[in-house]
Amino acid sequence: MRSIKYKITIAISLSALLSLLIAYVVINLTLNARFNDYLQVNQIKRDERIIDTFRDNYLRDERWTITSGKSLEREAESSAFTISLLNWDKSVIWAMDPLKLVEKEKEINPDSSFSMEQYVPNEYPIKYENRIVGYVVIGQFSPLVISQEDENFLNSITMSILISAFLAVFLIILIALFVARQLSDPIEKISHTAYSLSMGDLSARETSEADVVEIETLRNSINSLGEKLDRQDMLRKRLITDVSHELRNPLNVLQTNLEAIIDGILPATPERLQSLNSEVVRFGKLLDNLNILKQFESESMVAKIVVLDIKQVLQDIYHNFQGLTKEKSIRLKYVFQKNSDFLILADKHSIYQVVTNLLHNAIKFTPRNGTITIRLTRDDRYCYIRIKDTGIGIPQEDLPNVFERFYRVDKSREVIEGSGIGLTIVKNFVKLNGGTINVTSTVGKGSTFTIKFNLYEIGEHVPGDEMESTSNFPLPSDENETFSRSGSETIMGPNESKT
Ligand SMILES: Nc1ncnc2c1ncn2[C@@H]1O[C@H](COP(=O)(O)OP(=O)(O)OP(=O)(O)O)[C@@H](O)[C@H]1O
Ligand SMILES: [Mg+2]
Repeated sequence: MRSIKYKITIAISLSALLSLLIAYVVINLTLNARFNDYLQVNQIKRDERIIDTFRDNYLRDERWTITSGKSLEREAESSAFTISLLNWDKSVIWAMDPLKLVEKEKEINPDSSFSMEQYVPNEYPIKYENRIVGYVVIGQFSPLVISQEDENFLNSITMSILISAFLAVFLIILIALFVARQLSDPIEKISHTAYSLSMGDLSARETSEADVVEIETLRNSINSLGEKLDRQDMLRKRLITDVSHELRNPLNVLQTNLEAIIDGILPATPERLQSLNSEVVRFGKLLDNLNILKQFESESMVAKIVVLDIKQVLQDIYHNFQGLTKEKSIRLKYVFQKNSDFLILADKHSIYQVVTNLLHNAIKFTPRNGTITIRLTRDDRYCYIRIKDTGIGIPQEDLPNVFERFYRVDKSREVIEGSGIGLTIVKNFVKLNGGTINVTSTVGKGSTFTIKFNLYEIGEHVPGDEMESTSNFPLPSDENETFSRSGSETIMGPNESKT
């Protein structure tokens, strides 16, 4: 396995090399083609010049002599081509020997490719007053004769291309290393953080920000994963302390009281036995809650989904809570849109658990003479159940945690009994029934828990296909209980007067 830095560097460098190679080949081919064109033009011009020189010589002497055009011989020798002058009847006047040229070339350069097989003579007629007066034969060893200067020029261009290509490759490799570093360094750091988390260092976080979106997202995810793990760990540790504490308390009370009764120190009065019984009940409730939690955690909790008239269910719960709220002088109100239907697909037992848990909390955390309102509203698609109290409220920083297992806001932990499981169960039940729950709160003013469910649409598929009876509960008959209307809403409350 290779590092990301290595892979990026190699990938960029290879693509740079490849593109430079392609550029080099293309430039070279084009250059050679253009250069050959140039040589060809030069050669044609040279041949025309040679023919012209011969013609001028003929004009001047009006016949061929052994010296006609001889001045061109030196140029021909140095540029490795041969010239021969033939009379009109093709008899040789003077001629250069190509063999000599081959020998001379071999002397200068033993590896020279000059050989007679390559020798190609071209014959051009020399005309004077519309008749052919002679022929000049120009022979050479390659289709194009390239002079030393031309060759030097070509070599210097090829050299410059090569040098700039090497420079470019060098620069690109430097840039590739830099880019690879920019990408790999933060990833490396994040992977170290992830490794530390996996090794149990739950305080590990990556603090240096990355300027690549994906890496920054990864960093944030790892950090929030760390935070979650840290919180879970803290809750797990608290779980053991809390559970043992919660179990120990009622057990201690029971044990000391029972021992005192057995020893005859305390009489077994009905009041005392009643108080001991309430400890047993509390103990049982805690075990029940732990059992529900266990079912959620082992994913064995099942819901019997039916079409439920939530308005009726809430009314039922509202009635059941009259006694409890009255005991604490709390005013309990139930407000709903009178002429609307509130059918949802849900498990009745779950909804009971959710609403009663929230109401128990509201009662627990609301001082005497406070108000608790159950409000049921709807829009086109959803229905909303709001449980609002005028209690002690929850500090903003605790709000994200109240649904966590065994989480209790510190203040309530000291004075009000509870184990911090209620809201975890609530959240799980809401989720099980396809709803969502959230909470808003102001310390000293109160809290509002809002549960949202999809409304049932007629014809929608019902799992299990059962229709829940919705008229199990009598309408309010309590004498103190009155109905009041505000707009289309019905408000039910013990102290309301008819409006
Ligand atoms: N209506 C509320 N007003 C103020 N604080 C609340 C309210 N509901 C919940 N809380 C805070 O959230 C914490 C968690 O609530 P939760 O119902 O899970 O636990 P609990 O009521 O303390 O114990 P349990 O429900 O297991 O008996 C509470 O301890 C309390 O601090
Ligand atoms: Mg509770």
